[in-house]
Amino acid sequence: MGSRQGAELLSTQDEPTVFDQIGEDGFASLVAAFYYRIPTDPILAPLYAEEEFDGAEQRLRDFLVFRFGGPPRYIEQRGHPALRMRHATFPITQAARDRWVELMEAAFNEAQLPSDAQRSLRTFFDEAATFLINC
Ligand code: HEM
Repeated sequence: MGSRQGAELLSTQDEPTVFDQIGEDGFASLVAAFYYRIPTDPILAPLYAEEEFDGAEQRLRDFLVFRFGGPPRYIEQRGHPALRMRHATFPITQAARDRWVELMEAAFNEAQLPSDAQRSLRTFFDEAATFLINC
């Protein structure tokens, strides 16, 4: 038995991850469909620095890829996610949180990901966005 096969037998994580299901392309299309809505959004646009949209899109994409089972590029480039700390400088009200989730919902409709993957991502966004409310 090769060592790779042995490792697979010992693994308790044999369920496919969201990354296994949708790959880099799935995350890229979801996050692109989310981000192109931000610059014209009256609640969210003012929170983002205009010249940072591309960078912000890449950071969210890399974070999600890492969080859902793909390569850890986000950690390599940015370190520990510490999302609450990284959002502390943006005033995140309930209304801003709700709009963020709403734009992500529109992005889901556009990206047409498999329903299993959508369910896991939705649950995460819903909870994480609530956790980030800070004013
Ligand atoms: C599910 C919820 C969310 C996740 C997973 C998330 C994730 C992220 C990540 C990974 C970054 C980049 C951090 C860094 O590496 O510096 C970021 C930045 C940012 N987020 Fe969020 N976020 C969420 C919700 C929100 C909400 C609700 C708001 C505001 C309403 C928000 C506003 C911002 C802003 C303004 C930035 C700065 C953009 C930049 O990176 O330059 N986020 N977010």
